[in-house]
Amino acid sequence: MSDDNLAEIRDEKAKKIQHPKGKLTAYERLNLLLDKGSFSEIDQHVTSEENPDGEAVVTGTGTIHGRPVFVFSEDFSVMGGSLGEVVAKKILKVMDHALEARAPIIGIKDSGGARIQEGISSLYGYAQIFKKNVEASGKIPQISVVVGPSAGGAVYSPALTDFIFQVKDIGQLYVTGPAVVKTVTGEEVSYEELGGVEAHGTKSGVSHQICESEEQAFEEIRYLMSFLPQSSFQKPPAFITEDESSRTIESLDSFIPENRNQPYDMEKIISDISDDGEHYPIQSNYALNIITTFARVNGNTVGIVANQPMELAGVLDIKASEKAARFVRFCDAFNIPILTLVDVPGFLPGVEQEHGGIIRSGAKLLYAYAEATVPRVCVVIRKAYGGAYIVMDSIGLGADKLYAWPSGEIAVMGAEGAVDIIHRRELTAADNREELKSKLVAEYNDKFSNPDIAAQLGLIDNIIKPSETRKVVIDSFKDLVNKGELGDKHGNIPL
Ligand code: HXC
Repeated sequence: MSDDNLAEIRDEKAKKIQHPKGKLTAYERLNLLLDKGSFSEIDQHVTSEENPDGEAVVTGTGTIHGRPVFVFSEDFSVMGGSLGEVVAKKILKVMDHALEARAPIIGIKDSGGARIQEGISSLYGYAQIFKKNVEASGKIPQISVVVGPSAGGAVYSPALTDFIFQVKDIGQLYVTGPAVVKTVTGEEVSYEELGGVEAHGTKSGVSHQICESEEQAFEEIRYLMSFLPQSSFQKPPAFITEDESSRTIESLDSFIPENRNQPYDMEKIISDISDDGEHYPIQSNYALNIITTFARVNGNTVGIVANQPMELAGVLDIKASEKAARFVRFCDAFNIPILTLVDVPGFLPGVEQEHGGIIRSGAKLLYAYAEATVPRVCVVIRKAYGGAYIVMDSIGLGADKLYAWPSGEIAVMGAEGAVDIIHRRELTAADNREELKSKLVAEYNDKFSNPDIAAQLGLIDNIIKPSETRKVVIDSFKDLVNKGELGDKHGNIPL
């Protein structure tokens, strides 16, 4: 029987099981993910005693926008997509091929986990896959798309990859299912509540992208790939753009509110700077006080990290620090220049944050920036206070170019807090405390809440007109085009 016929027969059987569950088949998914007609299956004839028509995963190669990728697609219609020895071998083989070819690997996840009948040999298979995920980390992009159950230890393979896409209602990740949760803690919870898109897209941050449908997920993966290089040995693809590199954005000159505590939407600045206003946010439903997004400027990929004043005034907390740290480390591993846009009043104070380990989380972001060798451009839009100023890619940490808008406030801390500390005695003794405080705050702001001192000290390269930000950013990255070396640097450990 020809290979095409084999696949067709298998797919027809799978449709009967998958479609009633609102899910696509392993082959249908690959056809949506890859360029039309580009899928080439490997190991199609590898079978097992229990599954003579084929095992619970389809593996092979294909292209996305003409560039090669390696893929595996778990087949739930065969023993619930469970992972036994043969399935593990097929997955490991295609991962090895991807590593040798230095091309991305994309895993489509729809599985009941370890094949119970095979006992611990299936656990061994998982262990080998995890080890391979770690070996590949930082060398080739690894992407997972969760379109079915991902139960038990099986969750750890996607968690070791760079990006997890998860589809609403059908994709669920959990270490122990609702039944075990009920027995152990007495909590009653559905599969979707426990491990669905709401849980992992907005609360745990385990998933990077949450999608309404499988079609959307595969389309978004294709779009994400357009920003990424094939491996750590390449730069991301460059695109020809009609968007002028010298385009000025007049609206930005009056964009920052007069009142320095009034929020504004950082998304506008990102869109204004990016080619054609386009960008692709990562983890856009999680830790909203920081934005991590891919964009292109002058046709080239950049990773943008930006505080979002609309959420918690753009403060850095545990979740935001870790979200940004992992993004920065991904960009560094894959030769993606980093643009940082700063408006941060500081780290979030509080017992919960301190006891939750904000020190360790903040240190992760510091570490990520300090070790990054890709070109790094930073623009201080407004507040850059204290430790949070340092951590958001300051010159001291190794930023290559650091600019400030005239609205930039680079200081040890905000005026209110600073005045309380340095004028404590005077304020306590004063009859007109509030009046005196406003006067002192105004004086402090005049003196420190601007970029002038930082510019005098050479801690910023220049104060720039907001309307010229795109041009300045593009010129800076042009200057830095040959900075850094291609090749393996470090893994992308889950943070
Ligand atoms: C063998 C399995 C299986 C498994 C499902 N099947 N999971 N076979 N091993 N792990 C089989 C079912 O017996 C059934 O076979 C078919 O797949 C479809 O399953 P259904 O239950 O009918 O489907 P559904 O109602 O959609 O429920 C899916 C499910 C449920 C939620 C995933 O099957 C389930 O809870 N499975 C067990 C999950 C689990 O606990 N796995 C082990 C986790 S421990 P038939 O013949 O009836 O069609 C683990 C350790 C890994 O993974 C550790 C790594 C370090």
